[in-house]
Amino acid sequence: MAASIPLVARRWSADDIPDLTGKTAVVTGANSGLGLRTAEALAAKGAQVLMACRNELKAAAALESVSAAATGPKPEVLPLDLADLTSVRRAADHLDVRGGAIDILVNNAGVMALPGHIRTADGFDAQFGTNHLGHYAFTGLLLPALLRAPSPRVVTVSSVAAWGGVINWPDPNWRVLYIRWLAYSQSKLANLLFSAELDRRARAAGTTLTSVAAHPGLSATNLYDSNGEKGLTATLAALQQRLIVSLAQSDRMGALPQLYAATMPAIPGNAYLGPAFETFGYPRRTLRNPLAYSRLQARALWRLSENLTGIEYPWP
Ligand SMILES: NC(=O)c1ccc[n+]([C@@H]2O[C@H](COP(=O)([O-])OP(=O)(O)OC[C@H]3O[C@@H](n4cnc5c(N)ncnc54)[C@H](OP(=O)(O)O)[C@@H]3O)[C@@H](O)[C@H]2O)c1
Repeated sequence: MAASIPLVARRWSADDIPDLTGKTAVVTGANSGLGLRTAEALAAKGAQVLMACRNELKAAAALESVSAAATGPKPEVLPLDLADLTSVRRAADHLDVRGGAIDILVNNAGVMALPGHIRTADGFDAQFGTNHLGHYAFTGLLLPALLRAPSPRVVTVSSVAAWGGVINWPDPNWRVLYIRWLAYSQSKLANLLFSAELDRRARAAGTTLTSVAAHPGLSATNLYDSNGEKGLTATLAALQQRLIVSLAQSDRMGALPQLYAATMPAIPGNAYLGPAFETFGYPRRTLRNPLAYSRLQARALWRLSENLTGIEYPWP
């Protein structure tokens, strides 16, 4: 099975995605960057795509381009703010009422290195809350719909930044001292730990759900926006953004690992895909921060996420 993911990257593009007719895919953060490219590519192969987005206006604009790419059912927008558990529950309820199965969930949305210490509606650090806790909660609430699919796949998007991540166990919401890049790296390590633990629990429970992770290397997207910085730091951030975006691969290339992870058959559970040269290139199997292999940390993060969100999966 593992042989289906290349160790040495081959030219693999969105054209190589198999036919997705009859499948339903939910993509978080589908209005911008990698999420938008993912939604377009899935819709182009015939999937019914539900674009889970927090901003109505941005979502409406993105819906046009995903609709233009679609060859199957019309894509739809699903209002979702991962930084607000009430919104997460509302989105999940909406899907429940809508009925049907979810074959593919791409946990893609994210924020990076926010300059001020912003909190979510529930009081969590915005990066931990959005990137990890929001997705932990959303996936858990979508579980009944996922398990209605014959072989559901959950893809969680991490980052090269996860290499520098440690979970700040005494203070995961950075209440004492907020260090924005450490907070980002923590959230991206949490994505990997979550993905691994979800896969283990799904298998132990005898389900057919597969959980895998992917990262996009360095890709030109809105993630590098100045995030509302002011004065000199805003100028420096804009310069840094221009530099990064000029060095980065396109968002279409960056989306390939998550698309491969979401759509190729026989992907082994807990696989991790990224660009061949870590920051750029075609998808292949890739390495992760050794901490991301820790069963102990994954279990502890799961318990912490349960306690903070109040959402429990139906598995021990
Ligand atoms: N670009 C890279 O080089 C890079 C590298 C490593 C990892 N990543 C990861 O790739 C993923 C996608 O990022 P991107 O590069 O495509 O950046 P992006 O263009 O900024 O897209 C991020 C998406 O997440 C959405 N989002 C942010 N907060 C949200 C919330 N509270 N609720 C719902 N949606 C929310 C954004 O919505 P708005 O448009 O409304 O803000 C946007 O649609 C992220 O998880 C990021 O950490 C990216």
